[in-house]
Order: sequence, then structure tokens, then C-alpha cells
Amino acid sequence: PAAPRVNPSILSADFVNMQADLERIAAADFVHVDVMDNHFVPNLTFGPQMVERVQQTSPVPLDVHLMIEDPDRWAPGYAEIGAASVTFHLEAAAEPITLARRLRDIGARAGVALKPGTAAESLYEHLHEFDQILVMTVEPGFGGQSFMPETMPKLRALADEARRRDADVWFQVDGGISSSTIAQAAEAGADTFVAGSAVFGAPAAGDAIEQLRALAAKHRH
Ligand code: DX5
Ligand code: ZN
Repeated sequence: PAAPRVNPSILSADFVNMQADLERIAAADFVHVDVMDNHFVPNLTFGPQMVERVQQTSPVPLDVHLMIEDPDRWAPGYAEIGAASVTFHLEAAAEPITLARRLRDIGARAGVALKPGTAAESLYEHLHEFDQILVMTVEPGFGGQSFMPETMPKLRALADEARRRDADVWFQVDGGISSSTIAQAAEAGADTFVAGSAVFGAPAAGDAIEQLRALAAKHRH
């Protein structure tokens, strides 16, 4: 299997020094971009114009996480900008399978995200429609929250189901991932780790990325 991926979240970056903060994470696998609309979550970040500039500036491909209402309408635009992956929330999508197919047609990896309280069973028979599944390990909306270990059985069940069905899908975790929580997420089946405060809050972001990757590899499912 591929080495674990670490995707720093620029929600924890300095929004007026974005270029410098993108350089700090040049060693990352993907840049995780949290788009929030103040409706799906009680917080507001940025939209397509900012994401397009980040895309043009970043040496690392973008992993866009849409915490917005009506992703059926807005998600394809992020794929058209050139994001490597676009993940929308299952809770917000009217036609998740149709939307995933559309994202793939445009050329992005199609991702679907689940809030901590959202069950995963409805996805089991559609796992092959997605390139990545994001299991939220906090309630979406803010960086710096505590990891919720009660989300791990859902991740484990999804990862086992994907193995059983031979579905080539990445499993992401997002929220509260740090050197003290990453092992349990890796053991439960995650292969892609979003980390905001643990990377941008470290004195050397590159070292933090490397340390997280090494811990995840050591505790692989
Ligand atoms: C939360 C976002 C996360 C957030 C993670 O809604 O989706 O990507 O930036 O931040 P940390 O790693 O600080 O929990
Ligand atoms: Zn996120």
C-alpha cells in the first residue's frame, strides 16, 4: 500500500500570509482547503476565487473539503478550477452519486464526507463511485477541536467493507489529528490525515508532517 498521506488544513494558516504558509507545507501530499458557507456550518472561510488563487500559487495539489449547502450546484466549479480532489458532505447533497460522477468527469477525485453522527451504511454499495471517503473526527466548522474516538468504529467498518468489495478508495480523517491521536485513526483504517493546528502550530511544519506520516505508517491498519 501507498505511504500514508498528510494533508495540512489551511484553515489554520495565516490568511494574509497564505503564500508563505503554503511554502511551509511544501512537503505535504495535498493542501486541504476548508470551504465553509455559514449555513452548513456556523463559520465562513473562502470561496472559488480564493481557492483558484491558492491553486495557482501552491506547488502542492489541492484537496478541497466543501462544508456548504447545495454542493450539487457548487462542487463542480472547484473541480473546474483544477483541484485534485473535491469532497462534499453526504448530508448536504441531493444526488451524491450523480455529483460524484460529475466530479470525476471533470477530472477530480470525488470525495464524500460524513459528520460524526452520520451513518455510513448507505454508502457501502456505492463505494466504487468515490475516490475518497472523509470520516469527520470532529463536528465540522472549526480547527483546534478535540478528536472524537467514537467515530472510529464507523471508519473501521467502512475500511473493512471497501476491502471486502475490492473498492480502491482512500479513507481520510479530519479534526483533532495530532501525534497523540493519529495512531488510532491509522489502526482503524485511515490512510489520509488532515491536520490543521498540529502542522501550522508546530515550529517546523515540515517536521510535523514527516512525524505524522511516520506514526501513521507504523500503526497501519
Ligand atoms: C474542521 C475542518 C478541518 C480543520 C482541522 O471543520 O474540516 O479541516 O481545519 O483542524 P484541526 O486539525 O486543528 O482539528
Ligand atoms: Zn476539513
